[in-house]
Amino acid sequence: MTAPQPKQAIASMLSYRPSFGVPSAGRLIRLSANEGALGCSPKALEALQKSAIDPSRYPEIQDHQLNEAIAERYNLDAGRILTSNGSDELISLLTLAYLEPDDEVVMSEYAFLVIPQATQIAGGVSVKAADIDMTVSVDNLLAAVSERTKILFLVNPNNPTGTMIPQEEVVRLHKNLPPHILLVLDWAYAEYLEDGFSDAAARMVEEHNNVVMTRTFSKLHGMAGLRLGWAYCSPEILTTLASIRGPFSVNQAAVMAGIAAVKDTEFQAKSVAHNRKWMAVLPAFLKQLGIEVIPSETNFILMRFEPSKGVTAVEAEKFFSARSILLRTMGAYGLGDYLRMSIGTDEEMEILKDAFIALMQSGGQPE
Ligand SMILES: Cc1ncc(COP(=O)(O)O)c(C=O)c1O
Repeated sequence: MTAPQPKQAIASMLSYRPSFGVPSAGRLIRLSANEGALGCSPKALEALQKSAIDPSRYPEIQDHQLNEAIAERYNLDAGRILTSNGSDELISLLTLAYLEPDDEVVMSEYAFLVIPQATQIAGGVSVKAADIDMTVSVDNLLAAVSERTKILFLVNPNNPTGTMIPQEEVVRLHKNLPPHILLVLDWAYAEYLEDGFSDAAARMVEEHNNVVMTRTFSKLHGMAGLRLGWAYCSPEILTTLASIRGPFSVNQAAVMAGIAAVKDTEFQAKSVAHNRKWMAVLPAFLKQLGIEVIPSETNFILMRFEPSKGVTAVEAEKFFSARSILLRTMGAYGLGDYLRMSIGTDEEMEILKDAFIALMQSGGQPE
């Protein structure tokens, strides 16, 4: 051996990173990353321009103004909030902090890909519980729990399926878990639902010291590029995660924009309404074209291209990318016949609808 070798546990994962695309001609319509359709709050943009960001200074380790602003908006205890460099970082921290080698992490069949990856990096083993109709099955998750289980991740609604289970099922899952197992509620898309949905999860966190909720500013708040996520958890879990988090992982710009964004309930309501408007019409439009659509509670749609009907998912993705429209292929999830598409602006959605009609008329052949 002549060169340094990375650890064995990660040898099989050293290549996959999805492309987010480079526009070949003119404008790129990026619907492949579940980002907020309307960008971020104008008040967040204003805060970035006007606030006293000093690049020469380290940010606060924990910015109390940001924690207070999140707590106020969502009716939470600021002392239980830990902010992070996106919620991806929280998934890594949780697995690094709680897994001994070969400990098991239970998750649903199509759980958000970062979860099995983080588990593997941390030296744990992913145990996947089959979905029923592309929806998480609490019975199957519980059946997958063993003596070695340390963490159970529930992504609700889930990415990439878009489906969700009701709060009663979340409660039933928790009730049947032994208290030493950490239940992580990845609520990345909660902002698209009624506030009551995340309120219920928050109360679970407050009542039980083995529940963590993770949230993000990347979706409805439209701040994916600034990297800001947060966990809501017990003080003990917070201390654990904070101890291993990079001290300055939340930068000054994310803090300033985050405070303004979370206070801007007008922009949040506008973004929710925009999403609802398109989620009410797009699935029916796609179905009419003969595309199978999985019912979604999020800002994205998972769709299946039945190869025997003419157009395959691979052909569709190529067809769209030739028009500078990016959709996400799903091979990494073992869903080769599927594509995932997020909701964009009105203008982007009109262009997309025309592109879908052209796609189905062309039978998937390049123009
Ligand atoms: C379910 C889920 N969790 C977490 C994340 C990570 O979000 P971020 O790291 O941008 O906060 C995503 C992003 O796509 C997601 O879909």
